[in-house]
Amino acid sequence: MAWHANIVTLFPEMFPGPLASSLAGKGLSKKIWDISTVAIRDFATDKHRTVDDTSYGPNAGMILKPDIVHSALTFATESAPCPLPILFMTPRGATFTQAMAQKLSSGNGVIILCGHYEGIDERVIEYWTQNHGLTEVSIGDYILSGGEIAAFSVLDACIRMLPNIVHNSASIEEESFYLDLLEYPQYTKPYRWQNKVVPEVLLSGNHKKIAEWQKVQAEDVTRVRRPDLWQAYLNKKTMD
Ligand code: ADE
Repeated sequence: MAWHANIVTLFPEMFPGPLASSLAGKGLSKKIWDISTVAIRDFATDKHRTVDDTSYGPNAGMILKPDIVHSALTFATESAPCPLPILFMTPRGATFTQAMAQKLSSGNGVIILCGHYEGIDERVIEYWTQNHGLTEVSIGDYILSGGEIAAFSVLDACIRMLPNIVHNSASIEEESFYLDLLEYPQYTKPYRWQNKVVPEVLLSGNHKKIAEWQKVQAEDVTRVRRPDLWQAYLNKKTMD
């Protein structure tokens, strides 16, 4: 069965969007994964197809109504081929990580709720968290105009690791080996460019020496650029 993405959104026409190109696009045509959308507006009950209303409190802004989001999520879960984890894209969520991508990728797929405008009524998020294990996920500390672009990131990170997606699986394995570190520098031909040459060790043909050099490079770049990751790496090493 294909890995299934179901996107609950006000803008279904945005999908599959960029995921129809590159690696994900190939996987989509090969039916390794598939995608469906649930248009939140289809669940509006009035003739103007209203989905939002003014927020309680002094702040201006429109909030998606809980009953409508609830109907859309209910439809999404009931139409899924099997029970799937549910994510809600929001800057208030836990930061999305490679480990989360790996976990989702090894499952049957995902339902992603995308918010828009000022937000979604808190009660429907609370209800789905308590009753259906909804998880709030952020892709970083910045505000997008909606969850859709965040959902593309989450989906791409999952899809590229699906079995049978045409990639160099050795490179995925290597990534998981180096998960806690930033990537070491890489080079291709020509040997000399702008008077810069490729590090000598890479021409040696000595795989063990090359692996050692790459590890030192990965450690150096991590220590300098990401002290937070470096500290976590050191802590993990002392626990092993
Ligand atoms: N929606 C708006 N901003 C977002 C972010 N940073 N991550 C996930 N969803 C979002």
